[in-house]
Amino acid sequence: MSAVSLESIFRSQRLCVSSLDVPSGQDPSHIPAVDENYVFPLGLLNQMLLYLACPLHDCLYLSGPSGCGKTTMALQVAARLGWGVEQLTLCGKSESADLIGHATLRRGELVFEYGPLVRAMRRGEILILNEIDLMPPGDLAALNDVLEGKPLTITQNLGEVIAPAPGFRVIATANTKGMGDPLGFYSGARTLNQAFLDRWRFVELDYPDERTEKVILKQNCQSLDDGLISDLVRLAGELRHTSLASSAQGTLSAPFSTRVLLRVASLKMVCPQLSVHKALETGFALRLPDSEREYVMRLCADIFGNDERADPGAMGKKAPGRLTGDEEEGKKTRRRRSAKKTEEQGSLDESPDKDTEA
Ligand SMILES: Nc1ncnc2c1ncn2[C@@H]1O[C@H](COP(=O)(O)OP(=O)(O)OP(=O)(O)O)[C@@H](O)[C@H]1O
Ligand SMILES: [Mg+2]
Repeated sequence: MSAVSLESIFRSQRLCVSSLDVPSGQDPSHIPAVDENYVFPLGLLNQMLLYLACPLHDCLYLSGPSGCGKTTMALQVAARLGWGVEQLTLCGKSESADLIGHATLRRGELVFEYGPLVRAMRRGEILILNEIDLMPPGDLAALNDVLEGKPLTITQNLGEVIAPAPGFRVIATANTKGMGDPLGFYSGARTLNQAFLDRWRFVELDYPDERTEKVILKQNCQSLDDGLISDLVRLAGELRHTSLASSAQGTLSAPFSTRVLLRVASLKMVCPQLSVHKALETGFALRLPDSEREYVMRLCADIFGNDERADPGAMGKKAPGRLTGDEEEGKKTRRRRSAKKTEEQGSLDESPDKDTEA
């Protein structure tokens, strides 16, 4: 392990940890590529650095809505630190052998092929387990000892014992906190075992605040003008706080994620003659039920004006009108709620609102 100074790496003097021991001699092919356009929200960066510096026999569980930046955050911190990563995206059929390894025939000989967990333990890498709440809890229980920093015994390989190298860390990402998803927004999410969850430190992410999202768009779509970027971010904020009586969740059936926002903005950037309306339709609205799609397109017209280039005959739809009186009222209520939420967050923690490190 060798100590690195975090202030110079993350170009910030407001980090809660000033230096960190990073494992030396990491395999360069396992270190994620640096994304120069990535914007570090300071509050989250601090929590991540604190975990990497002082795991205290815990692992780190990043929860939050789809496309808010959980996986990217973990990868970009590792990239900047030069820390190797083993990454695996889990699903409902994942089993402990996918993590630990399995016996296989090679040139007529039965050998044990180690999985990403063992490789990360041996090399002192960060194991990133995406969508951990999709994996059956019975299979995850095989990790319980390892998650507390204990060695792993591979019963399938004659009881071989693997001791964790000093740099070994585990970071999981998921859309839920392991308590299932009663709204069915994230189908397949399971209720995880409490003994398993007891071994994790939790960090909750949400979509970046307006200021951060503007910086993200500006960094990634440099040719878009600032006014358009501001309006797109405003549209994202409105759509995230939409309350709809017609939908089971009370909100839009699909989240307007940072991933979606970047998609819409990127479409507009690579094809300037495309209207924002069309970019929004193909990038997001078409996956929604009809009534929600109409609402989204009306809100778009409200912010960006009617689509001058719209073909009224296309797909049998007329160009969307402005929001109705009821919808206007709904929007105002949402804005009040959203402003209240921002106020509360600001007083609770060091909100990334003012603190972003590009
Ligand atoms: N702070 C940020 N700076 C730059 N880009 C970001 C940031 N946060 C999110 N993004 C971008 O948003 C997109 C979605 O991020 P990511 O895949 O990490 O989300 P996620 O939370 O892991 O989503 P899921 O739950 O669907 O796996 C990516 O393209 C990522 O680059
Ligand atoms: Mg992810």
